[in-house]
Amino acid sequence: MTATETFADRLKKATWNDHEAAEHTTYLDALMSGRVSREGYGEMVAQHYFAYMALEQAGRALADDPIAGPFVSPELERIPSLEADLEELYGKDWRDKVAPSKSTLTYVARINQIADWPGGFIAHHYTRYLGDLSGGQVIRKIVERTYKFPTSAGVQFYIFPVISDLRQFKVDYRDKLNALELDEVQAKRIIAEAVLAYQFNTEVLVEIGKRLPEYLVA
Ligand code: HEM
Repeated sequence: MTATETFADRLKKATWNDHEAAEHTTYLDALMSGRVSREGYGEMVAQHYFAYMALEQAGRALADDPIAGPFVSPELERIPSLEADLEELYGKDWRDKVAPSKSTLTYVARINQIADWPGGFIAHHYTRYLGDLSGGQVIRKIVERTYKFPTSAGVQFYIFPVISDLRQFKVDYRDKLNALELDEVQAKRIIAEAVLAYQFNTEVLVEIGKRLPEYLVA
């Protein structure tokens, strides 16, 4: 750690290896090269749905918390978008067709377990939403090109209509991370939880990837 390194810098640096591992799972590499069927993409959207249900439920419970509350922004909420995407991908009866995988159940259990620890919640919040606002925007372009959905339903998860400037939003988000008053022990615990959050995400993607032979096109 250097004297000028902020908490947001530390968090990114300490998790970037785990980011690379998540980004380069076999499944995401195949998705990013347009080789995953619509059904295979739908499986990831379904798994996102269960994770975000837990994350956003935890967020609502912490909305007035002095530490975690400032991170809980309604403009980030993904559940309505995920519901629209799932309806496009699976049809109106999508709720009967999707189920959490084993890895998602483990991830959700961890989110629920840390839901009363504001720092832990922030670690999970950061790992997902800052990712959706960053690499998620790259995924969006590929997904639009691959599946050519008739409307935005199918990729709404990656669209944040209420946030006019994603870049500025991320700058403000990092400012909030840097404004947390953390001692070294707390800072390290949050970083460790973010590493875990990446690992849960990677495991979810690895589990979907096991079905790639079914999902690969061309
Ligand atoms: C195809 C997959 C992915 C691509 C291409 C990608 C790409 C990127 C890029 C280019 C950035 C840097 C943006 C910037 O510096 O502003 C970034 C940041 C980030 N990504 Fe990803 N990513 C992918 C998958 C993921 C996944 C699966 C997660 C989480 C589970 C994730 C979480 C994050 C987070 C938290 C950041 C913010 C890091 C920070 O600035 O502190 N990404 N991603």
